Amino acid sequence: MDHVSVGLLGFGTVGTGVVHLLSDDQEQLQQRTGCPIQIEKILVRDKDKARKIKLDDHRLTENVSDIIDNPNIDVVIEVMGGIDEARHYILQALRNKKHVITANKDLMALHGSELLEAAADNHCDLYYEASVGGGIPIIRSLRDGLAADRIQKMIGIVNGTTNYILSKMSRQPVSYQEMLQEAQALGFAEADPTSDVEGLDAARKMVILSHLAYSIPASLEDVTIEGITRVEQEDITYSKKLGYTIKLIGIAEYENELIDISVQPTLLPAHHPLASVDNEYNAVYVYGESCGETMFYGPGAGELPTATAVVSDLITVVKNLSLGITGHHIFLPKLKKQCKPAEAISSQ
Ligand code: NAP
Ligand code: HSE
Repeated sequence: MDHVSVGLLGFGTVGTGVVHLLSDDQEQLQQRTGCPIQIEKILVRDKDKARKIKLDDHRLTENVSDIIDNPNIDVVIEVMGGIDEARHYILQALRNKKHVITANKDLMALHGSELLEAAADNHCDLYYEASVGGGIPIIRSLRDGLAADRIQKMIGIVNGTTNYILSKMSRQPVSYQEMLQEAQALGFAEADPTSDVEGLDAARKMVILSHLAYSIPASLEDVTIEGITRVEQEDITYSKKLGYTIKLIGIAEYENELIDISVQPTLLPAHHPLASVDNEYNAVYVYGESCGETMFYGPGAGELPTATAVVSDLITVVKNLSLGITGHHIFLPKLKKQCKPAEAISSQ
């Protein structure tokens, strides 16, 4: 293998971070993988848009076929977002025997099993570390590091945008709308931030974590979901006076053969370790039967933390390629347990 060629689907917040990391220190990357990595093509909607990183024109394309059907490309990195197109492109890339890395939790929560099966069928790798927890290596920790344990419970702050808004509002009276705009400007929020503030993004991440931890076919319908849109400055101020902090908390708990998954604004005592997780930072507590408590903490969103997870996946793929073991590690869950039905949240 004289080099590995990469095609990027998307050149927004995360795509820019990936290009930055891949261009920044090629020598270190080559030391870690034993092989140079080149970005061959990048898919965008609009080639003429001003970009944070300037690239030669020939590398940008508006035609996805230049990447997914390009015989020179070995690995496709999907950082464009959305569901239907992204699913279609990833399936086509896998059929064309390209390894795939994605940061797309919406897609993995909805079609993860189908994509992992397609990867296995085509003897390709499919990694998705950036889909949960930004720069925190929580996916590989559940898949590999804690593989020997039986997970009882996971409690997490898994959405950076809402944590940013709530922590800013708890420090001083500021407008919810202004803080959301700040989170958008910093690149933390989704293209449509409704999924962040309504709790859907966190719910999708809890579905992905539950899939890994419990080997269940969880779906969004199994999750009791309430976002932060009904939390007011007054609630935050009074909670604080009583010694509590409001956080958007995801819980996935195994009890009596059922997995109960929820995402809800929750009052945490100020001394609780999750109460001090501020701004866009995320944290996930995992309780395992054998290992006990482990906690994973770090930046949960943003250009470089998320790109770090993506490029770390890429390093794994390149190592797998040089060892000839791609497509052999794929975790295909055995579907043995069930989810507890979600509760309806009253709109009052
Ligand atoms: P973004 O800033 O909106 O960037 C999306 C990029 O994809 C843009 O370059 C856009 O092209 C391109 N694109 C989108 N749809 C396209 C289409 N149909 N055809 C061609 N190009 C298309 O999004 P992002 O924040 O980087 O997020 C990307 C993915 O990573 C999403 O799945 C998101 O959920 C996930 N993620 C994001 C973060 C974060 O902190 N931002 C963290 C973890 C995971 P143009 O530039 O021409 O518009
Ligand atoms: N919009 C997401 C968040 C990006 O705020 O957590 C990281 O997945």
